[in-house]
Amino acid sequence: MRDAVGKLLLFGATGDLSQRMLLPSLYGLHADGLLPQGLTITGTARSEQSDDDFRDFTRKALDTHLADDRKDAEAIEGFLARLQYQPLDASTLEGFDALATKIGDVSGGLAIFLSTAPWLFGPTIKGLQSAGLAGENVRIGLEKPLGKDLASSCEINDLVAAAFPEERTFRIDHYLGKETVQNILALRFGNSMFEPIWNARGIDHVQITISETVGLEGRAGYYDEVGALRDMVQNHMLQLLALIAMEPPARFDGTSIRDEKVKVLRSLRPISADEAPHLTVTGQYDAGAVKGEIVRGYDEELGKDSRTETFVALKAHVDNWRWQGVPFYLRTGKRMPERRSEIVIQFKPVPHSIFAERGGMLQPNVLAIRLQPEEYVRLLVMAKQPGLDRDGVRLREVPLNLSLDTEFAGTRRRIAYERLLLDLIEGDPTLFVRRDEVEAQWQWIDQIRAGWDANDVKPKGYQSGSWGPSSSIALTERDGVTWND
Ligand code: BG6
Repeated sequence: MRDAVGKLLLFGATGDLSQRMLLPSLYGLHADGLLPQGLTITGTARSEQSDDDFRDFTRKALDTHLADDRKDAEAIEGFLARLQYQPLDASTLEGFDALATKIGDVSGGLAIFLSTAPWLFGPTIKGLQSAGLAGENVRIGLEKPLGKDLASSCEINDLVAAAFPEERTFRIDHYLGKETVQNILALRFGNSMFEPIWNARGIDHVQITISETVGLEGRAGYYDEVGALRDMVQNHMLQLLALIAMEPPARFDGTSIRDEKVKVLRSLRPISADEAPHLTVTGQYDAGAVKGEIVRGYDEELGKDSRTETFVALKAHVDNWRWQGVPFYLRTGKRMPERRSEIVIQFKPVPHSIFAERGGMLQPNVLAIRLQPEEYVRLLVMAKQPGLDRDGVRLREVPLNLSLDTEFAGTRRRIAYERLLLDLIEGDPTLFVRRDEVEAQWQWIDQIRAGWDANDVKPKGYQSGSWGPSSSIALTERDGVTWND
């Protein structure tokens, strides 16, 4: 049931995420006529500026971050007219009444998007409560980082829960806003052919890779505190894993889908301290070249020695009936040779090959779901090469290609935040992460970190522009599996 609010309040409105993603996304929704008529957007941050200054700031952000064909002067002016700004020091209660006055009547519903430093969560929630901005018709969207371990995440969740019940709390994992991620559900539950083999009988293993070419991107303060495991695996990668591994949900709604995802997350086999050095690999990038450009090593970029991992690969298991014995190999890193997010599902080989004695070699079928930069679903199948085959059967692996880019060429690809902001405004929780999911994710991650601490694990250096430390290759090769590079 869609239940759109009449007002939106953006914390961190002048921050990097806001400039790059939130304001361009809101503009995109406005330009397509998707924002509720009359919806006003109040931006707030520490800096003193007027409504007009904020509109100028937004105009510049749109100019920098929108593709040229999306820049429509009339639409931009219309969007700017929705904006207003109120400076606020969220660490004290004082400014919140003025903020509430600026926003005005919230009886038509208010959605708040909180993208601030984690230590400001507590004071902000208290401020909102004291100014009457946490009532029944107010919902709140929370941007990461939501804690750095289970304990700190519970603390934040408790703080928020004191003012906003779970059904009005929308935790963002921007991967869930990506079109191809949602397509996993369409692929799995909109087709009958996959389900009978989508289990340990049909699937040999699953690989999930998120590789990035970027390094610290000016986020050293944040990144060096967290590292790749907490920055990428705890959230995005475990959400992808859950979507691949979940049981068919009873319905396509927030409760049913999240019920199934949390069951998977709770079934993740804990990685003990003894196993951590064998089932996980950590790395940190050294100097090297990425896409022909010479780049500095992590420590040099950071300006100090650090043991933070910028790469992690691991082997996970989901302990339930469906997935018994099927490894899930996860790998993510910065300064890799290419930007790629991909899920690769390798099926079991045929039980018996009738081609072997005629020299025909078979490869197991592979289903690759590419999320970015291209969007496609590709099924590798065996086919006979044309010819008379007098010297033996010649078979070759060929792709059955579904290029979403080509198939839906006329449809604009939206930024993940467009979808998520619209769902927040309209109150649809399906693509947001529930508290029990986040806590199951942290619980599993905390144990891995404890294993690293117990074994004094240090990340291994890897050259920028490579696929990570060689031990990540050994991680899969031990099982006779090769990463899909
Ligand atoms: C963010 C991480 O959550 O995801 C970043 O904090 C990372 O470190 C980013 O770069 C990757 O997102 P995307 O959408 O570019 O794959």
